[in-house]
Amino acid sequence: MSAAALRFTDLRCGYGDTVVVRGVGGLAQTGRVLGVVGRNGVGKSTLLKALAGFLPLLGGQLHWQGQDLTRVPAHARLQAGIAYAPQENVVFGELSVAENLWLHLPDRRGARYAAALAAFPRLEERLRQRAGLLSGGERKLLSFTRTLGLQAPLSMLDEPTEGVQPENIDRMAALVNAAKAAGRGFVVVEQNLAFIEQNLAFIEQIADEVLVLDHGACVFAGDFAALGRQALERHLQV
Ligand SMILES: Nc1ncnc2c1ncn2[C@@H]1O[C@H](COP(=O)(O)OP(=O)(O)OP(=O)(O)O)[C@@H](O)[C@H]1O
Ligand SMILES: [Mg+2]
Repeated sequence: MSAAALRFTDLRCGYGDTVVVRGVGGLAQTGRVLGVVGRNGVGKSTLLKALAGFLPLLGGQLHWQGQDLTRVPAHARLQAGIAYAPQENVVFGELSVAENLWLHLPDRRGARYAAALAAFPRLEERLRQRAGLLSGGERKLLSFTRTLGLQAPLSMLDEPTEGVQPENIDRMAALVNAAKAAGRGFVVVEQNLAFIEQNLAFIEQIADEVLVLDHGACVFAGDFAALGRQALERHLQV
């Protein structure tokens, strides 16, 4: 097994007696982006919640850098180097934008947010405002910025571009690619195929590998380039 990798095998997870994700396996590596795509309700967020430790596994195995994570709780997964930005409830609305960014970080100095705040001046202007006053897209940007700033070896982002303005989606892609070049890895759930930069959607700008889900099962896994735009569109058509 390659050293800094999250390997999952034959995962089963769901809610109560309802199994939503079954038999799904994959490999997320540092320095790479694994895209997870599929239509509404196929189980993308359920898979990410299970990988992050917010849903118990009903079956399957999960290893990170050779360590068995199957029964390791969510907070310990973050300490082990796996960050997670959920699809919903992404910020603490009563706290300021700055407090949201620094909440879990004992050392408040440093340049960990400099690149993202330069890319998103609207956030920088509003550092002292309550995060609850931000628009939905701005909240997603704040959540993205906070997660990126953790500089975790692996970050899992659930539909980070939902509601975000196109020019900012481009900047998000550039920031992910810079973090990737610095050796960090990502698992990114996406559904938005709108063309942004040079006829490439966000996920096309960043993904190296891809996992396509349908009805909770994996229907394609492999190189993103091997999937191709047409197949991608077909998998996402309602
Ligand atoms: N907390 C929950 N309790 C029970 N069922 C749930 C819960 N959350 C999701 N589900 C169900 O699990 C299935 C998969 O949902 P999930 O949110 O994983 O899909 P998704 O692929 O992320 O969809 P979307 O693209 O809309 O975000 C759906 O049928 C959904 O209704
Ligand atoms: Mg979802």
